[in-house]
Amino acid sequence: MRELLEPYRAGRLELANRVAMAPMTRGRADDATGVPSPYAATYYRQRAGAGLLITEGVYVNALAKGGPGIPGLVTDAQTRGWREVTDAVHAGGGTIFAQLWHVGRMTHPLTLPDGELPVAPSAVAIEGSRIFTRDGLLDHVTPRELTAREIDATIRDFASAARRAIEAGFDGVEIHGANGYLVQQFIADNTNLRTDGYGGSVTGRLRFATEIVEAVAAEVGADRVGLRISPDNAENQLAETDARTTYRTLVDALEPLGLAYLHVLENGAYGAIADLRTRWSGTLVANTNGPVPSSPAAGARLVRDGHADVIALGRLFMTNPDLPARLAAGIPLAGPPTENLYGGGAEGYIDYPPATDGPGVAATPAAQVVPAAA
Ligand SMILES: Cc1cc2nc3c(=O)[nH]c(=O)nc-3n(C[C@H](O)[C@H](O)[C@H](O)COP(=O)(O)O)c2cc1C
Repeated sequence: MRELLEPYRAGRLELANRVAMAPMTRGRADDATGVPSPYAATYYRQRAGAGLLITEGVYVNALAKGGPGIPGLVTDAQTRGWREVTDAVHAGGGTIFAQLWHVGRMTHPLTLPDGELPVAPSAVAIEGSRIFTRDGLLDHVTPRELTAREIDATIRDFASAARRAIEAGFDGVEIHGANGYLVQQFIADNTNLRTDGYGGSVTGRLRFATEIVEAVAAEVGADRVGLRISPDNAENQLAETDARTTYRTLVDALEPLGLAYLHVLENGAYGAIADLRTRWSGTLVANTNGPVPSSPAAGARLVRDGHADVIALGRLFMTNPDLPARLAAGIPLAGPPTENLYGGGAEGYIDYPPATDGPGVAATPAAQVVPAAA
């Protein structure tokens, strides 16, 4: 575990340790205004012992919002709300990046202004699964194809959300290119049927991702920009027929830009972390996804073997707000949450005690304790 607890410095990044909190949507923002929850500053401050905090996904324009309670970085009120969060995290000695998110087809007219249709690279619907809305789970609708002009505007929206993030005090931004949302809908060949310059070939399908990264880097500086990808991730009905070639091409194109980091979420058959590491000289943040929370011990091995510089952990951070301190002290970890993941208020959000509270540890039900080495 020692490997995870050492400081990490590269470029502008000066991290107290190599443990990042993975981005996690919690659905607690004010639904009408997209202003972060009044509890968000406390939530992130409690977790400021992470070397790097990556926020929940934050929408970059009105059509980018995926569901109730998602915060934005579009208005002055939202920007002010995030300022409270970044001030709290910095007061706790932490570093925090905002995750910039456009969900593309993964939303519903009930979530969008004036009941608009979701947008996507092509009019390809998700079949046989439902999406959460303020009226509960509903069938997906068929999205409408973005025009070239709208693609340009969306790229500019990522850049202006990044500008707002820096105004709000964030140390940088992470572009969400993973998990089947808009950026990956452009990359995957089953969701991008376009025949213009944003489709039709590997380079065409990667163009949206690279143009966003370039635009955001031009706006706030490449050393404040990370990109999250999840190659070969079948989540949300994506199919990438040649993930290896596609992501090697993407990484080779981005390598010269000097980004803050590449965040690779590995959950497909293609061993993306090891493969892309050999082509990426910058900081690599690694995360794995599966039915059980990714393990700190496995993360430490990735760092030890040189496959990653920083390890992102998600679910364990919800219930172990002082996760790096617990790892350092060998304190048993609370298991992942089973309720209150999305929506609601303080409960299940800011009421997980740090181990240093003593009674909080004793109060953790034995059945929920998982060994740190799992
Ligand atoms: C409640 C919840 C919300 C999530 N929201 C996001 C998100 O907003 N953006 C994102 O890139 N990944 C999101 N993820 C995925 C996590 O970042 C991470 O990849 C996943 O939880 C696996 O890591 P873990 O095993 O350490 O939890 C979410 C995961 C969970 C459990």
